[in-house]
Amino acid sequence: MTPKQPFSLHYTGLIDKYRERLPIAPGVPAVSLGEGGTPLVKLHNLIQFLALEIDLYVKYEGANPTGSFKDRGMTVAVTQAVDEGSRAIICASTGNTSAAAAAYAARAGLTAFVIIPEGNIALGKLAQAMMHGAKVIQIKGNFDQGMALVKSLADAAPVTLVNSVNPFRLQGQKTIAFEVVEALGRAPDYHCLPVGNAGNITAHWIGYCEAAGVPGERTTAACAYCKGQCRFVSDRLTEKRPVLLGYQAEGAAPFLSNAFVDNPETVATAIRIGRPQSWESAWTASRESGGWFTGVSDEQILHAQKMLAEKEGIFCEPASAASIAGLLVDLEQGRLIPGSTVVCTVTGHGLKDPDTAISSSAKPMTVAAEEGAVKAIILDNIG
Ligand code: F0G
Repeated sequence: MTPKQPFSLHYTGLIDKYRERLPIAPGVPAVSLGEGGTPLVKLHNLIQFLALEIDLYVKYEGANPTGSFKDRGMTVAVTQAVDEGSRAIICASTGNTSAAAAAYAARAGLTAFVIIPEGNIALGKLAQAMMHGAKVIQIKGNFDQGMALVKSLADAAPVTLVNSVNPFRLQGQKTIAFEVVEALGRAPDYHCLPVGNAGNITAHWIGYCEAAGVPGERTTAACAYCKGQCRFVSDRLTEKRPVLLGYQAEGAAPFLSNAFVDNPETVATAIRIGRPQSWESAWTASRESGGWFTGVSDEQILHAQKMLAEKEGIFCEPASAASIAGLLVDLEQGRLIPGSTVVCTVTGHGLKDPDTAISSSAKPMTVAAEEGAVKAIILDNIG
């Protein structure tokens, strides 16, 4: 038998790590899959390849247990739901929320009902929800219609709504800011992220406000958004807060037109959203941080996704690549101060959407099972 360790290095998820900064009481057992603690990777190759005059990192949320940042929110929302005696959870989703809800419900022994737009979620995400035993309900409509449905259902049926309108979701997702600050020793100058339903940009701002010990307009106890769930502890982790840059796909960009979009369209199905639920708080976060929103085309998204995969070994889904694509547009237009430290949240793993990845990549080469045939290819491609 190995001798008992004086301390344990076993990471058991973000509630155990940040409990004093979260609205989960001591002693309430966390429903966790070990989420959080994701890599902050410096993009040495891209910096060099594109001759960027910034220090650029990605926070790779694809490394979470179900492959997206949603796990941060779901551990807190499901822990709270169990503590309140709930037996079932429900969400509308473009895919990742449903995958996370399904997994955390399985872990907690709850039933998950997930509402998804038929034909418009990536295959991997559908597989996850099905595999974890969620009750998958496809609607002949889009995410925004699904959202309207689950909001009324949560009042009419004994189920806990776990979309990001549930304030416990954002409380979990705010922890990304703590991790970035811990890794860099301070907040970055800019933090870039894709925006869909706009919960995550709100959560980033809540986290940075708390880390800096500064209540944001929306993060005070009186705030209708966090519903009094924010926690301010005495130790400040950083002096300043970053500028938040939000990126949207051009075909689904209500923050660019400052108006809801009825028929959003983009290859980045995760952010195919026209009526963001966190509309007000996202505007507040953006304005208060001194940030802005920028649109990117599907082509720019796919190009950034490919570049990150080929130059850095980081495979993310299309929506996630919007943060890199948008940053490159803003850099091109000279909107960032040279020499800045920039972090992009890369929200989800590329394996979730194999169809898009395959259709935007070179096809495999098929040859006879002979050494000569394979050798010819090696010699042709060795560069
Ligand atoms: N990136 C990915 C991979 C997402 O799945 C989402 C949202 C976002 C970015 C945008 O984050 O909504 O907080 O602004 N996906 C949700 C879902 C809508 O149902 O999985 P947001």
